[in-house]
Amino acid sequence: MIENQWYLAALLPELKKQNPLGKKILGKEVVIFQSESGKIHVLEDRCCHRNVNLSLGYVKGEQIKCAYHGWEFKGNGDCHCIPSLPKENPVPSSVKVHSYHAHLKHNCVWVWFGEEKPDVSKIPPMNELDEYPFVYNYHDIEGDLQLIAESLIDAYHINHVHRNSIKGIMGNLHGEEIAFNLKVEEDHMTGEYYRHNEGSIFEKFYFGFEKKILTKFGFWFPNSSKLDIHFKKRRLVIYEHFYQVDENTVRMCQITAWKKIFNGFPLFFFAKWFMLNKSIKIVQEDIAFLESNKKIKDEKPRHDLLITPSDEVSLEFIKLWKRNTQTHEKSTQKEDQKETSVL
Ligand code: FES
Ligand SMILES: [Fe+2]
Repeated sequence: MIENQWYLAALLPELKKQNPLGKKILGKEVVIFQSESGKIHVLEDRCCHRNVNLSLGYVKGEQIKCAYHGWEFKGNGDCHCIPSLPKENPVPSSVKVHSYHAHLKHNCVWVWFGEEKPDVSKIPPMNELDEYPFVYNYHDIEGDLQLIAESLIDAYHINHVHRNSIKGIMGNLHGEEIAFNLKVEEDHMTGEYYRHNEGSIFEKFYFGFEKKILTKFGFWFPNSSKLDIHFKKRRLVIYEHFYQVDENTVRMCQITAWKKIFNGFPLFFFAKWFMLNKSIKIVQEDIAFLESNKKIKDEKPRHDLLITPSDEVSLEFIKLWKRNTQTHEKSTQKEDQKETSVL
């Protein structure tokens, strides 16, 4: 699993006052909490007293308090107070739990598990979440991480997989060769192209009658993708963030943000309901394909890259994935060597 990266551990609206949040990311159980002064912390989800989940506890001031016997832990994992310890005895410094680097950006809590020094500029640029309304939902998929990532920037599947949900709003593609205007960097890629506006009369009336709809997309290795649909005055932005929960399961967090779609009271509440329902339907439509993808993957060769010239996005994606996983493997080997030489 790729640890030297930022992972979206939670969206800010998920954090409730006093209530810590337990999550499992890359096989690690973590607890996320926001202290009274607003600082965000991520610790291992384990009280070192009797090994129960700290996420069963609650926030007290700047600390998280285990609900079993009341031990309190600071954001850096040090134990701050053991209620049953006589007042004159200090808390031993060895009493601590592991803490992880955490950073709040774009209304999301980001966590870093790796040994390398975290760089906050590497957090994917989800700027729209700072200013637009958004909804989010999570899904667990028995799928392959790379294939899931690839599918999320696949322009062609929308006509088919999503024919009953967003095909109309997003516009269609036909047999023509498309200029994707790809920009490929070391660890991310972006592109933009046009889709034919073939929405229903209601969709056109609301979203616009232009012949073509500008569609932008992006992928940031190894866990974030973006689909950004520009109408005349309105905009729909879908982020997907995905990671391995464990060896078999990939969790996907889908976030849908929008600008000027159904805005103004009371339509705003309708927009939230509408967007959430649409978003859930979209991911559910994808899941059947993503799970069957994984099952067949190792048995049969793929043909798309041999016969479809316009699959340049997939081709560049595969190169980018390979390049970055190799870099990751090298740095992991170096870390392992370091550990062995220390031993
Ligand atoms: S198990 Fe947490 S305080 Fe005892
Ligand atoms: Fe999809």
